[in-house]
Amino acid sequence: MEKISIKEARRPESIGRQATLQGWVRTRRDSKGGFSFLELNDGTCLANIQVIADAGLENYESEIKRLTAGCSATVRGEIKESGGKGQATEMQAAEVIVHGWADPDEYPLQKKRHSMEKLREWAHLRPRTNAFGAVMRVRNQISRSIHDFFQEDGFLYLHTPIITASDCEGAGEMFRVTTIDPANVPLDAKGQVDYTQDFFDRPSYLTVSGQLEGEIYATALGKVYTFGPTFRAENSNTSRHLAEFWMVEPEVAFNELDDNMQLAEDFLKRIVADVLSNCEEDVEFFQKRIDDTVLETLHTIAEKPFHRVSYTEAIERLEKSGEKFEFPIAWGTDLQAEHERYLTEKEFGAPVILYDYPAAIKPFYMKCNDDEKTVRAMDVLVPRVGEIIGGSQREDRLDVLEARMQEQGLDADEYWWYLDLRRFGTVPHSGFGLGLERMVQAVTGMANIRDVIPFPRTPGNAEF
Ligand code: 4AD
Ligand code: MG
Repeated sequence: MEKISIKEARRPESIGRQATLQGWVRTRRDSKGGFSFLELNDGTCLANIQVIADAGLENYESEIKRLTAGCSATVRGEIKESGGKGQATEMQAAEVIVHGWADPDEYPLQKKRHSMEKLREWAHLRPRTNAFGAVMRVRNQISRSIHDFFQEDGFLYLHTPIITASDCEGAGEMFRVTTIDPANVPLDAKGQVDYTQDFFDRPSYLTVSGQLEGEIYATALGKVYTFGPTFRAENSNTSRHLAEFWMVEPEVAFNELDDNMQLAEDFLKRIVADVLSNCEEDVEFFQKRIDDTVLETLHTIAEKPFHRVSYTEAIERLEKSGEKFEFPIAWGTDLQAEHERYLTEKEFGAPVILYDYPAAIKPFYMKCNDDEKTVRAMDVLVPRVGEIIGGSQREDRLDVLEARMQEQGLDADEYWWYLDLRRFGTVPHSGFGLGLERMVQAVTGMANIRDVIPFPRTPGNAEF
């Protein structure tokens, strides 16, 4: 008998088919009339399928009536029209094979709903809950849309390295990669660690961004994007920071800041439109169970034009807002999540792109404006999450770039290859980075970033 997914079995077109379904039991209910209802889930969709198992089945008393949440089973039979509410189909079982039992005294995912915090302790079992199943299906859809959007537009998918010697963001928040034995560190004549004896002959790290390598390929192939894991050793325990997260970074030769903003807006709109049309059932679940502003946020991103506001104007508006912020605000300070959220949720009620930030709070590679105070940076802010994208036009003038690197204490010799891009055929170019997990948060309403990645890495947490 053909194996089909529960997603397919739930469609009215499947009525009348003989099929094999396989999954995990969510509940069993015995009826007085001599049969049992099993709710079976296989993760292909949020909903379960109802299986009717008659007392006449050979293993009814010995096995079927012992099934509990978490047991795994194969069920064969006919898909029938269902009289039940919220389901077009059900399965009349001709055979139920039990693969694995789950002792109800020990299996943690019983009927009782657990907190998200509790579920993090069971990172190996939480994908079997409704919420995590839905998050992972939406995460998958977003990843697919990312590739579709760029591929359809002629972008080249570039694999940038995970191990690197350069600190793109210049914030010094990097994890070291080394084969030096911590109990036996080689020292040089000055008593410093001798990295020439390390694996790469130099200090090396896990990348914080694929941007610098992206620029190399964009200034040869035009439009590229990298999409992979990135690492930040910042000790921040917040609901929107991870030590390991996924970032997608397009980089485009000949794009200026306005083109970059347009690309970011089109990109976010496309992802959200795909989620709205392909993940309807999961989105409805988030709206009902997780956050009742989810649909509004999705429609806001998909339909409203993004406001483009300079950093300077944003500061003026924040100062005039009369809001009580925890962190004081003044020209020159970085915005905190509370300020970002105020701007996008209350001041504009739509996504906002802030641009032209003070040079002093942004990395060396951003293009300097003529005012000599600001750089061509842009951050995209969305409701509930705040900053979801960070990007800029890149400094394409060799002398200005060298001066900026000096200002920030970077050794130009170590970035000789990056400077070569400005020596040989330099062009205006721009790009940005979207944090995948923040995008999943925006779309699902999940409050904590630890709950939108399969295995969150945060300070003190790397067990699973
Ligand atoms: O603003 P960021 O640091 O920008 C860059 O890394 C640039 N090199 C990107 C580029 O221009 N190619 O990071 C970009 C985005 C942020 O807006 C945020 O969504 C996400 O990456 N992000 C994080 N997500 C989870 N945990 C963290 N610790 C994050 N840090 C940044
Ligand atoms: Mg940023």
